[in-house]
Amino acid sequence: MEFADVVRRRRMVRDYDPDRPVPPEVRERLLAHAIRAPSAGFTQGWAFLVLEWAADRELFWSVTASDALPHPPGRDAWLTRMRRAPLLVVPLSSKDAYLDRYAEPDKGWTDRDEARWPVPYWDVDAGMAALMVLLTAVDEGLGACLFGIPAERVDAFRGAFGIPTTHRPVGVVSVGYPGDGDRRSPSLRRGRRGVDEVVHRGRW
Ligand SMILES: Cc1cc2nc3c(=O)[nH]c(=O)nc-3n(C[C@H](O)[C@H](O)[C@H](O)COP(=O)(O)O)c2cc1C
Repeated sequence: MEFADVVRRRRMVRDYDPDRPVPPEVRERLLAHAIRAPSAGFTQGWAFLVLEWAADRELFWSVTASDALPHPPGRDAWLTRMRRAPLLVVPLSSKDAYLDRYAEPDKGWTDRDEARWPVPYWDVDAGMAALMVLLTAVDEGLGACLFGIPAERVDAFRGAFGIPTTHRPVGVVSVGYPGDGDRRSPSLRRGRRGVDEVVHRGRW
C-alpha cells in the first residue's frame, strides 16, 4: 500500500472477527516494525508483551476492565467488541533504561537527574513504536486500536503478567481483522483540527 494511503486509512478499529487470527508472519512484521521506531540515544528502552492465546487475552481483560464507577457511556459494548481482538500488543516503557543510557560517557548525565528531561522520552519512544504497529496493521489489511489501561488497574495487570516495576504500559494495541460491529469514536464528532489551526509558522 502507498504510504500516504496507510496514513489516510489509519483509524482505530474497535470490533474484530474472532474467527480470523492474525497470521504469525504478520504478527512478526508488526513487532519487527515496532523496533524500527526512533529512540532517544538509540536507547530502545521499550518492551512488548504479546498476548495471543485466548486464556492470556481473557486474563488481560479480566484484570484490566475497570470496575470503577461511573463507566463512560457505551463502555460495556466497547468491551464486548474489543474482547474479540485475537492479538494484543502491550508496549511498555522503561525510564531506567534511559537514565542508564544517558549516564554513559557519550551523554554524560551521570547524576541521572530527571530534571534534565524536557519530556519523558521513554514514553515518547514507546508511543512511536506503538504507532509503527498501528500503521503496519493498516498496511497488512488489518485493523488496530490503541487504548489505555485504567490507572487503577495497572498494578493488577503487572501482577497477572509478571511485569517488572522497571516497566510501565503506555497503552495496549489490539489487532485483528475488523468485525461487522465496528463503531467510530464519538470523539470524532469534534472534527479534525485543520493545519492552519495547529501550525504556527515562524512565530506562535
Ligand atoms: C494515547 C491514546 C489513548 C487512547 N485511548 C483510547 C481508549 O482508551 N479507548 C479507545 O477506544 N480509543 C482510544 N484512543 C483512540 C482515540 O479515541 C482515537 O485515536 C481518536 O478518536 C481519533 O480517531 P482515529 O484514531 O480513528 O482517527 C486513544 C488514542 C491515543 C493516541
